[in-house]
Amino acid sequence: MRARPLRIAAAVLLSAAALPGAAQDAARGRQLYETHCGGCHYERVHQRERSRWQVSSLASLRVEVARWAAQLKRPFTLEDLDDIAEYLNRSHYKLEQ
Ligand code: HEC
Repeated sequence: MRARPLRIAAAVLLSAAALPGAAQDAARGRQLYETHCGGCHYERVHQRERSRWQVSSLASLRVEVARWAAQLKRPFTLEDLDDIAEYLNRSHYKLEQ
């Protein structure tokens, strides 16, 4: 079948277009999040009404991620934080800026 590779290529192009120049790796972010953060609050935090989110922009999402990461014993690199923010944005917040 020829349609399938085309559809995948289109999806890759679309996600690249949505984030020009982004180097974040959402799959890696997901792994980090599930290992270090998810056990605590995924369900509750992600079922909240949008009006109750503490996060309203990509900048504030990064701040929240960094704030929570700083409370864990494990050191996180800036790249880790970017990847986690990217994953949360794609899976949940869907913020443009
Ligand atoms: C000890 C438990 C715990 C851990 C570990 C934890 N969190 Fe949280 N997190 C919470 C709680 C509780 C809230 C909600 C705080 C509130 O309602 O004021 C929250 C809120 C958040 C929010 C804001 C949600 C919103 O939109 O309102 C983000 C983003 C977040 N956490 C990211 C992370 C990340 C990233 C990590 C891992 C680096 C992490 N958290 C680890 C308990 C935790």
